[in-house]
Amino acid sequence: EKSIYILGIESSCDDTSASVLRNGKVLSNVVANQEIHTAYGGVVPELASRAHQQNIIPVVQQAIQRANIDKKELKAIAFTRGPGLMGSLLVGTSFAKSLSMGLGIPLIAVNHMQAHILAHFIDEKEQKKPPFPFLCLTISGGHTQIVKVSNYFEMEVLGETMDDAVGEAFDKSAKILGLPYPGGPLIDKYAQLGNPKTYKFTKPKVGDMDFSFSGLKTGILRFIQKNVQQNSNFIEENLNDICASIQHTIVEILMDKLKNSVKITGIKHIAIAGGVSANSEIRKVLKEAEKRRGWSTYIPKFEYTTDNAAMIGITGYLAYLENNFSNINTSATARLKV
Ligand code: KG4
Ligand code: ZN
Repeated sequence: EKSIYILGIESSCDDTSASVLRNGKVLSNVVANQEIHTAYGGVVPELASRAHQQNIIPVVQQAIQRANIDKKELKAIAFTRGPGLMGSLLVGTSFAKSLSMGLGIPLIAVNHMQAHILAHFIDEKEQKKPPFPFLCLTISGGHTQIVKVSNYFEMEVLGETMDDAVGEAFDKSAKILGLPYPGGPLIDKYAQLGNPKTYKFTKPKVGDMDFSFSGLKTGILRFIQKNVQQNSNFIEENLNDICASIQHTIVEILMDKLKNSVKITGIKHIAIAGGVSANSEIRKVLKEAEKRRGWSTYIPKFEYTTDNAAMIGITGYLAYLENNFSNINTSATARLKV
């Protein structure tokens, strides 16, 4: 069997990542998280690009080393072209271009949002792949979309957020509660110890397959301010129940939209992708929908939910098989559409 080795590079936001795949199987997936943003309550673009510059060479070297191959065996380099932070994207893009010239191998520009979805096609034992067409709920720190996936590179956005992304709803709620960035995983953690029915938050009214999270954020802020005025220890005393109630509301919103989308499209193959698909409640509720609603559901392996280069590598591999290469003049694009 011929070995097609692809190097994937991801640098769209605050994670520098590199991965080597052999015929769609992950040999290595190195992710350097940027701790620096924790203290600022969010990603600081200028600090992010500087950290990418420091991380990119060691991260790529490690990915190649751990894959136990020589860089001369690589067949192509896939990199994130967008969407993302311009300064961050530029680091990965320039690095990928230079390396492709140095090694004399082709470049493949990858759309980050498509890559989150195509992570489902990484060759993994016991991981079933969604059949076309399927619906993918892509939920991350920057995006919230329902995408109809008709083929690897044939995708249509059926609905998306009008304002904040769902990851922002998690992170901003966490910030209101005094938790560090990124707060999504912490809300998930505390929610597991709380009662999700304790507090009720108003759900947004938008189009059948669209989302809105800014109203929820304001609602949570007012609710917390009001209660803290009456009891300054309100957050500490009720943290688990608050987190469980917030998470429950968000997951209900997501599930309502998925139900609408299934009704409208008639498609019952449902996948989730993106950083928020790491959330334990959405994973659980979606699994339950298999029995309760007759859906087939596809949940990515945990390490391929948040930003990683393996998803860029698999997208590159699928593009490679279609001879879909990019020109060296391809530029980073902050606002790239699916
Ligand atoms: O896909 P991702 O790594 O980066 C973007 O492309 O935006 O998503 C990051 C987002 C953050 O908002 C983070 O709080 C959220 O995913 N997240 C979670 C969980 N793990 C990560 N949100 C809720 N529950 C989690 N377990
Ligand atoms: Zn992402």
